[in-house]
Amino acid sequence: MDLAFVSTNVGKFREVRSILGEYGVRVRWDRRRLPEVQADDLASVVEAKLADAARSGQTVLVEDSGLFIPALDGFPGVYSAYAFKTIGLRGMLTLTRGRARGAVFRTVAGLARGSRQWTVSGECRGRLADRPRGRNGFGYDPIFIPNGETRTFGQFDPVEKNRRSHRAQAIRRVGRLLQTLG
Ligand code: IMP
Repeated sequence: MDLAFVSTNVGKFREVRSILGEYGVRVRWDRRRLPEVQADDLASVVEAKLADAARSGQTVLVEDSGLFIPALDGFPGVYSAYAFKTIGLRGMLTLTRGRARGAVFRTVAGLARGSRQWTVSGECRGRLADRPRGRNGFGYDPIFIPNGETRTFGQFDPVEKNRRSHRAQAIRRVGRLLQTLG
């Protein structure tokens, strides 16, 4: 079985390809920027992306992710990409200095096959590091420490991140769904 993963992010593509490979699914990278609607939850963003991507008629997978910081009332959340581009890791650490360190990564993934569509989600709870550590992964990985760990995702190797991450949980659900669909 083949599917197209629509995203501009090579880091996400590598993770998705590796995870779905475990389910015998071959993932092609459709490196297209889909219009992102302004919405205050990931599911609405994904549904809009999916409506667009599904027009090709192929089996397509999209996803949207964000880092939610309870001490900032969930910010940056759906604005994670914008916050990353503007204030960056350092800015995020400055914003959260002296506050509770809890943070949650969330992913919503959307799959379209024929006329049918599904959304699934995944979550990884953890805390913010006091400074960026590690060169692996992408985005906020160097400042996120998953629960039960002392290292950031930036210090995890790709296989380890794929065992724990928000994306891995969502994409494994996609893998199981594809297996049941046959
Ligand atoms: P989007 O899902 O492409 O909108 O990503 C939102 C922002 O969160 C971007 O700045 C990504 O780099 C970042 N991000 C998404 N997934 C991850 C991840 O697994 N680790 C670290 N940062 C991520």
